[in-house]
Amino acid sequence: MCGIVGYTGPRVAYPVIINVLKRLEYRGYDSTGVALLGKDLKVYKKKGRVADLEEAIVGQDVHAHTGIGHTRWATHGEPSDRNAHPHSSATGKLAMIHNGIIENYTQLKKELVRKGYEFKSDTDTEVLLNFIEDIKENNQCSLEEAVRVALKRVVGAYVILLVDRDEPDTIIAARKGSPLVIGIGKGEHFLGSDASPMLEYTKEVVYVNDYELAIIKPEELVLKNLGNEKITPYVQKLDLELAAIEKGGYEHFMLKEIFEQPQTIYDCLRGRLDAVEGTITMAGVQNYIGQLTNANRILIVACGTSWHAGLLAEYIFEELCRTPVEVEYASEFRYRNPVIHPGDVIIAISQSGETADTLVAIEKAKEQGAIIFGVVNVVGSSIARLSHSGAYTHAGPEIGVASTKAFTAQLVVLTMIALKVAMEKGTITRERFMHLLNELHEIPAKTEIVLQQSEKIKELAEKYKDARDFLYLGRGYNFPIALEGALKLKEISYIHAEGYPAAEMKHGPIALVDESLPVVFVATKDSYHEKIVSNIQEIKARKGKVIAVITEGDETIKGMADDVIEVPEADEIVAPMLSTIPMQLLAYYIGVAKQLDVDKPRNLAKSVTVE
Ligand code: M6R
Repeated sequence: MCGIVGYTGPRVAYPVIINVLKRLEYRGYDSTGVALLGKDLKVYKKKGRVADLEEAIVGQDVHAHTGIGHTRWATHGEPSDRNAHPHSSATGKLAMIHNGIIENYTQLKKELVRKGYEFKSDTDTEVLLNFIEDIKENNQCSLEEAVRVALKRVVGAYVILLVDRDEPDTIIAARKGSPLVIGIGKGEHFLGSDASPMLEYTKEVVYVNDYELAIIKPEELVLKNLGNEKITPYVQKLDLELAAIEKGGYEHFMLKEIFEQPQTIYDCLRGRLDAVEGTITMAGVQNYIGQLTNANRILIVACGTSWHAGLLAEYIFEELCRTPVEVEYASEFRYRNPVIHPGDVIIAISQSGETADTLVAIEKAKEQGAIIFGVVNVVGSSIARLSHSGAYTHAGPEIGVASTKAFTAQLVVLTMIALKVAMEKGTITRERFMHLLNELHEIPAKTEIVLQQSEKIKELAEKYKDARDFLYLGRGYNFPIALEGALKLKEISYIHAEGYPAAEMKHGPIALVDESLPVVFVATKDSYHEKIVSNIQEIKARKGKVIAVITEGDETIKGMADDVIEVPEADEIVAPMLSTIPMQLLAYYIGVAKQLDVDKPRNLAKSVTVE
């Protein structure tokens, strides 16, 4: 969480920082601030979004050529002007922005208070900044040296960017556990939490690793470890176009990303799946095929929507590969004492590749000898780099806070991995393998057909937007989709929604059902069809309103449900890739109907880099 930006070079820093901050707002939007280092060091900050800051500082001097900027997702201290970053040190000589949490800040604060320091904010960031300044003043050393000494005492996660009134044109940056990318321009450098917002300035980037510190000037980038040894920066080229991070005529990123799915699914399959030859080519899988096929069990760790993809993968892997699979919330897994044997395979699923809990969970498992296989969207992200092997989902930048196209791409990649492993293990017949390859091949075109129903779903959104609660039910492969549908609705519309296995309903949630409760059934034709038909009847008997996602032409459910959304027929293993799309659209249109900011829902951030 929190977006961080830095610039040093010949341009006026402020417009660059504001531009990149706007693109990073998906990481947090509680407050915004900039520190500009010219003849003097100026700090401007404000509760609210980037636009609020811009408005507040019209007419101020913003002409410096070096600066740092921050968009906050509050951890320590409520969203307010005084808790906004950058923070200024006690002498006013230093300014700092931070993404992460300093866990031992209370201890450090006590030490500083004993020395007479006073604090203007409630943040851990201001504590760390003054701790650094204290070291600098006492040791009469450079800022770089003071940062290095201070970080050896810090427990927690951070990316910090600092500027010093006495060190013109220079930004000091350091990272542990939160992302930091440096963009290389001609006589200029950019810093950011994410590479894509820098695209319009440069495509050459360096991903900073944990425990590295960077000293950045317009013409110079020095990378060191905390032991003060120099590291050669590894410059990578971004394979992305600017259009990928713009709205392209859509009202919201979320809508654009929903509508991109025929293309993103196609991109995910492209060069990998050959339905004619009957092959799946995935180098990351091939390199670890022995470990994947011989695994006694597979553990999947993830959070949120990625966890739902993992849950569906459990069903698919167990069906196709006959390998036992356990799906774990990364946040629980990391703090348990899980039994991990050397050779266990952990599949880590993450859109951002930066989710703190997932990252730490796989670090722990790796230490115990597990093989880490990453299914990640953001190229070069921390989880991708920490994994032994993996497969990118190639969904392109996902900017809307609600995950949509990344989810369907995860489902596609996980299904391809399962198919490849199953073929290698001999747990699938060639005929079924070929059939499923064909089914996958047809998904982009079928996705287009589902999207053609968006107007109808918009009407349903109007009809149901005032409901207080929703229930989402599904069985088998559609159960994770029910969970995902409920999550989408909660985060985008703030309506309470629960996802349940349809059969579990009778063990409690059915008590909620009355004429005011919309119940969304994910009920495409599969092995459980008759069972779910009975569940629909049970809801109707209690006067619940049924909205059903069904397979085209399913007259049985059509005759029972209040409203239906039809999706093309597909094998039950791939059908969830289609049935999830109406869930996304329903949540989106309800959010819009309620005039909510669907791209930046309250209290959320795209990339959860704190635990
Ligand atoms: O980047 P990740 O996939 O690791 O993120 C995991 C969750 O934070 C994420 O899926 C979250 O639940 C989304 N807001 C869901 O739309």
